[in-house]
Amino acid sequence: MIVMGIESSCDETGVGVVDWDGESATLLADEVASSVDEHARYGGVVPEVASRAHLQAMVPTMTRAREAAGIDRPDAIAVTIGPGLAGALLVGVAAAKAYALAWDVPLYAVNHLGGHVAVDTLEHGPMPPSVALLVSGGHTHLLGIEQLSQPIIEMGTTVDDAAGEAFDKVARLLDLGYPGGPALDAAARDGDPSAIAFPRGMTGPRDAPFDFSFSGVKTAVARFVEGEVRAGREVSVPDVAASFQEAVADVLTAKAIRACQAREVTTLVLGGGATANSRIRSLAQERTAREGIDLRIPRPRLCTDNGVMVATLGAHVIGGGAPASPLTVATDPGMSV
Ligand code: KG4
Ligand code: ZN
Repeated sequence: MIVMGIESSCDETGVGVVDWDGESATLLADEVASSVDEHARYGGVVPEVASRAHLQAMVPTMTRAREAAGIDRPDAIAVTIGPGLAGALLVGVAAAKAYALAWDVPLYAVNHLGGHVAVDTLEHGPMPPSVALLVSGGHTHLLGIEQLSQPIIEMGTTVDDAAGEAFDKVARLLDLGYPGGPALDAAARDGDPSAIAFPRGMTGPRDAPFDFSFSGVKTAVARFVEGEVRAGREVSVPDVAASFQEAVADVLTAKAIRACQAREVTTLVLGGGATANSRIRSLAQERTAREGIDLRIPRPRLCTDNGVMVATLGAHVIGGGAPASPLTVATDPGMSV
């Protein structure tokens, strides 16, 4: 069965195609058009700009995906209905409905976050019960997974900024450009991660064990830089970057390990664009190895937003026997898992 996935929740227009054999999905096409360059001068994703870019990119991306997969039409279409930017989601959902109607194939509405988890099966095979840590510019979630065809359990999320967003904001503060995550990661390579003790948010005894907060560490970086400038001292960008990155990676990985222990699972899946971060990866590797937990991280291309993740989750949902969605299905920008 050929399943197509359509993704438009943020600034990536993605159309992916997988072949589902009833147990596992195989990647046939993965076409992505990004509007990230158009947002760069604003220092963040502008919803209106993203929607317009989706409208322009959707049909060409769809055409490329069909050519790459060597198909005329799929047997089913899966589409992200949330969470994400309202206007951006509408473009993908409208396109998915139009294609489903024109091709007379069933439509399956899926959750973007579940897609980030499901995509890992393309690389690492069937997924045992596990915990997923999703970190990107738009999300920071700890999720419990029993089966991909079943609803996912939300264990915790950020109470303020997403982890990637915090990277972007701190990078801007340090004049490193946008998107700042990769630049900050590079700057941190020459820094001392223990130079400055930045706060670890939401790690107090009364804090929710699996929730995150990154606005405190972001403010602490701003205060530190202001203080240094006021005192006439030169700010060491590598030290600030490395210390900030250490604080974020420490909290993310510590809570992810504890979530695995709480659910008594021995598999941790990472997803989202910020899992490209070298320290998040190395600390996750160190700590999972120490605790006897298998760590699964899809290759970077699959970690960022794409259509294949939507197609893969759609295939599992179909495999689980879920009914197709009606063509009246709505978007759900604030969708939880
Ligand atoms: O998944 P993604 O491509 O888009 C969404 O936000 O959904 O993730 C992009 C985010 C940005 O905030 C970017 O700065 C961050 O991931 N990021 C990184 C790194 N590479 C990307 N953050 C830290 N270190 C990196 N190496
Ligand atoms: Zn995403």
